[in-house]
Amino acid sequence: MSDLPPPRSWLFVPADSEKKIDKALGSEADAIIFDLEDSVAPAAKAFARDLLKELGPRHGGPRWWVRINPMFAPEHREDLKLFSKAEFEGIVLPKAESEDDLVHLAHSTGSIPIHAIVTETPASLFNLGSYKGTQAPLAAMSWGAEDLSSALGARSKYAADGKLAFTYQLARSLCLAGAVAAGAQPVDGVYTDFRNDEGLKEEARAAASEGFTGKLAIHPAQVPIINAAFTPSDTEVARAKAIVDAFAAHPDAGVLDVGGRMVDRPHLTQAKALLARAKR
Ligand code: COA
Ligand code: MG
Repeated sequence: MSDLPPPRSWLFVPADSEKKIDKALGSEADAIIFDLEDSVAPAAKAFARDLLKELGPRHGGPRWWVRINPMFAPEHREDLKLFSKAEFEGIVLPKAESEDDLVHLAHSTGSIPIHAIVTETPASLFNLGSYKGTQAPLAAMSWGAEDLSSALGARSKYAADGKLAFTYQLARSLCLAGAVAAGAQPVDGVYTDFRNDEGLKEEARAAASEGFTGKLAIHPAQVPIINAAFTPSDTEVARAKAIVDAFAAHPDAGVLDVGGRMVDRPHLTQAKALLARAKR
């Protein structure tokens, strides 16, 4: 799979809007997701596919991914034909229910990387451990609350205190653990209150400190906030370097004192991963 660092920001753009596509192409997003699914009305799906076929060659800028319609949708087969175009780095698969879906998709798409949205159906929540060890080219996993709450018949995805209700926090944490277990990038879900920059900043920082390495975006203004939240700070980089240097100086040590704090092998792994992400 790709040697590029995992995208911090994944910006959705409805693929039937030329104006938004232009804007997304010129944005600072690490990756754009051209959406053929929920943000495009059924009558506009063929038009959206045509716009994607007509996109010229990519000259740097955001990486190009496409969200196709789910396996069971009538549009799915047509959408897959788009991937003969080399500019599309990967496929975003919505409503993935288990690892079986990835294997099924990869039968048609071969080695094209897959970013699976893994918590959109009630049944999917029971299968978040299934992605570990997959033979499919799984690159990233993200979670979504909108489709899940609708499928569950919920009136709201929020609890009385205004925070995400337990069901969606569970989905989020299981996505994180399932992705890391599978060796895929854990990507946090969308922040739909897109005019609230402070709220987004807080949510993105919390996600980054828990282990997510990127977040979905729905508006170009969210991109710089997300990029900043998932870029390791100078302090974090310095701390990670100190840990790597300490183990390099004491290769046989299991545990060390670095700056007055206990560090052992898992900290070394974490420090190396952080330094790899800082190098972009
Ligand atoms: N990608 C690219 N450009 C976008 C964009 C996006 N996701 N969202 C908004 N823009 C553009 C607008 O077209 C507008 O362009 P202009 O300045 O040339 O007129 C500019 O950014 C400012 O947009 P704004 O007026 O603040 O928002 P809006 O009311 O036009 O759009 C949404 C709001 C939510 C409809 C829009 O952000 C959107 O379509 N988001 C993506 C939704 C999606 O893909 N959902 C599926 C995943 S959950
Ligand atoms: Mg959806």
